[in-house]
Amino acid sequence: MYVCICHVVTERDIRRAVEQGACSMRELRNELKVATQCGRCANCAKSCLNQALAEIGEAQGMAA
Ligand code: FES
Repeated sequence: MYVCICHVVTERDIRRAVEQGACSMRELRNELKVATQCGRCANCAKSCLNQALAEIGEAQGMAA
């Protein structure tokens, strides 16, 4: 699913960025430019970020 139309960023792109260490909107903005143009994707991007962080955190918790 596309999250940011302006910069063609998908949910999968956000998840990949989180897997590579991004953990804040600022980092997503720097890496993917998400929410840096019209800003309409900001809430959706934040939800995707939080979901990815939770899922990755759970996966790491299970591995430990
Ligand atoms: S849709 Fe993301 S900045 Fe416009």
